[in-house]
Amino acid sequence: MLPCDEVTEAFAARRALIDDYLRKLAERTGAPGPLIEPLKRSITSSGKRVRGILTLAAGEAAGCKPEKLIDAAAAMEIIHTCSLILDDLPSMDDAALRRGAPTLHREFGEDLAILAAVSLLNHAYGLIAKNHAALNPRQWPLQQVIKRVVDAVGWDGTIAGQAVDLHSEGSKLDFDTLEFIHSRKTGALFVAAGAVGAMLGNISAAALSRIEVFAKNLGLAFQITDDILDVTGDPEQLGKDVGKDEQRLTFVKLAGVDGARKLSEELVDTSLSSIANLGAAAAPLRDLAEMVRGRAK
Ligand code: IPE
Ligand code: IPE
Ligand code: MG
Ligand code: MG
Ligand code: MG
Repeated sequence: MLPCDEVTEAFAARRALIDDYLRKLAERTGAPGPLIEPLKRSITSSGKRVRGILTLAAGEAAGCKPEKLIDAAAAMEIIHTCSLILDDLPSMDDAALRRGAPTLHREFGEDLAILAAVSLLNHAYGLIAKNHAALNPRQWPLQQVIKRVVDAVGWDGTIAGQAVDLHSEGSKLDFDTLEFIHSRKTGALFVAAGAVGAMLGNISAAALSRIEVFAKNLGLAFQITDDILDVTGDPEQLGKDVGKDEQRLTFVKLAGVDGARKLSEELVDTSLSSIANLGAAAAPLRDLAEMVRGRAK
């Protein structure tokens, strides 16, 4: 297992698959003049690709080779990038730096940043449908796969989490409120990323539930770690602003840095135990969990 911090050696090949795909996609968007550069920048900006790798790893747990799931993995990364562009806007977190470069709205203006974000989200659904058509998983019709993503992004998913997060000033700082926010703004897309990979790999219903529990706990651990890094991290190293959560409800405010670390560790342990009986094919999922654990240290 991986006791380390970044997307490491074991994931380098999977990350390269996703990055190559996105580089090619950025060259052939067919977008008109003003949108070309913001789209290229956002599609190719270098994230850790945790959600795309989760899609690939969940597919591998179902016996599917990563190369076969690349459209869907890229789609999950594109949705995530959309959420970051919107999250950085002046009306949201008002961030200056993202992935080591000026945020999209600072570089290209708010109008083009919003349009780029919405077009990314739109494109992602088509990629998942394309991947489904190629694999045609017997147990999982397209409608069920897409529903996972629609619900994860939608008004009781990422969008709900972001809305409550942004309007949380004065709300009660307790576990339930934080769990509501974090499991939606970040956890929901983790669950969808795992579910899409597993379903396209034609996984059984029982194994799918285990992977969803895994991804839910891992997503929560990931956001808690992100909250810790907002306090302890270095903007140079993270490639984004820190100290952005001062007005927000976070697990660090609830439990302190050490308490948040402990909670994140426990959630990683819970995620691992949920896939304990998935056998050797789930090794990439386990490595991913260890990578998330490593980020909190
Ligand atoms: C940042 O996500 C936003 C959160 C949900 C915590 P990542 O830390 O995965 O960002 P990238 O994709 O690597 O830039
Ligand atoms: C972002 O949470 C969650 C989504 C983008 C949905 P944060 O606001 O903590 O993410 P960072 O710290 O800006 O990456
Ligand atoms: Mg935010
Ligand atoms: Mg933010
Ligand atoms: Mg953050």
